[in-house]
Amino acid sequence: MTTWLRNAWYVAAWDSEVDAAPLARTICGTPMMFYRKLDRSVVAMRDACPHRLLPLSMGLREGDSIRCKYHGLKLGPDGVAQEMPMKSKAVNRRVCADTYAVVERHRFVWVWIGDNDRADPALIPDLWPCSRDGWTFDGGYYPVACDYRLMIDNLMDLTHETYVHSSSIGQVEILEAPIETHVANGHVFVTRWMEGVDAPPFWRGALKKDGPVDRWQICQFMLPASVMIDVGVAPVEAGATLAEHDQGVRGMVIDFMTPESETSHHYFWGMARNFDIEDAGFTARFKAQQGGVFAEDKEILEAQQSAILNNPDMKLSAYRIDEGGVRSRQLIARAIAAGRQMEEQA
Ligand code: FES
Ligand SMILES: [Fe+2]
Repeated sequence: MTTWLRNAWYVAAWDSEVDAAPLARTICGTPMMFYRKLDRSVVAMRDACPHRLLPLSMGLREGDSIRCKYHGLKLGPDGVAQEMPMKSKAVNRRVCADTYAVVERHRFVWVWIGDNDRADPALIPDLWPCSRDGWTFDGGYYPVACDYRLMIDNLMDLTHETYVHSSSIGQVEILEAPIETHVANGHVFVTRWMEGVDAPPFWRGALKKDGPVDRWQICQFMLPASVMIDVGVAPVEAGATLAEHDQGVRGMVIDFMTPESETSHHYFWGMARNFDIEDAGFTARFKAQQGGVFAEDKEILEAQQSAILNNPDMKLSAYRIDEGGVRSRQLIARAIAAGRQMEEQA
């Protein structure tokens, strides 16, 4: 029994991470490797040779195929044997490595974890700010040694900013603004709406305008493992509302947590924004700054994971501030249970 949902799309890599040379990455407990064919489309294959299980990612690319570095078994991009180690031997086409459905969208390479015939690209989480006109998007990647759900808890709870990020983005006002949590359309929302406040320096600079603003932070969890945080400010007179707030400057913090094991995950993070979108210097500076902020979370969460393992007689408690994470975990648990029920009935 696993803590993650099967039959779902997960981010395997940034599109720029995958090229002709194989990239090895364990996704949801399965060692996989990813490479681009000559036509640039992506292959995802089990990272274990069908012969003696050497990682295929150590192999040599030949055209669109991969040749194992141990005894030279050659597999096509469909995983099927093309040449046996003894070249004089007839090819046994039953020799093959598993392959997985992949799609490139929103700057990421997505892989389907589950039954390949159920891999419908329409089910990819709608990270729309990553590819919409008028927006720009960039970010980075951290391996994090903790259960992916601890990162979801963290992102659905903005109160931690004050302490974890005291030297960067933490601000006391954040603790003072009321929070509202609700579930809608299968997504969890944690909303903080601050009316007529002073814009902090970052947002003041982005808005390029003085005067009081409405400021918002809206965390949104989507199955199987993503959190988008809608952040920004608009001049009070623009009349921004919860439903409609494109009047000022707006950013979307993008987070995708792909499980690696029960106690580690791949953290893909970034920010999409709808202001100064041609400013590559801003993009690079912001990415560096955001990388620093998320490194603070990584340190806390890895220590938390160790503490969980070292205190097996203790349980996580949930206070009101944890409601967003609690609700997100409920959605995951329910989806896992529903999936299991479907499999039992099939
Ligand atoms: S282990 Fe790959 S060919 Fe032998
Ligand atoms: Fe954080």
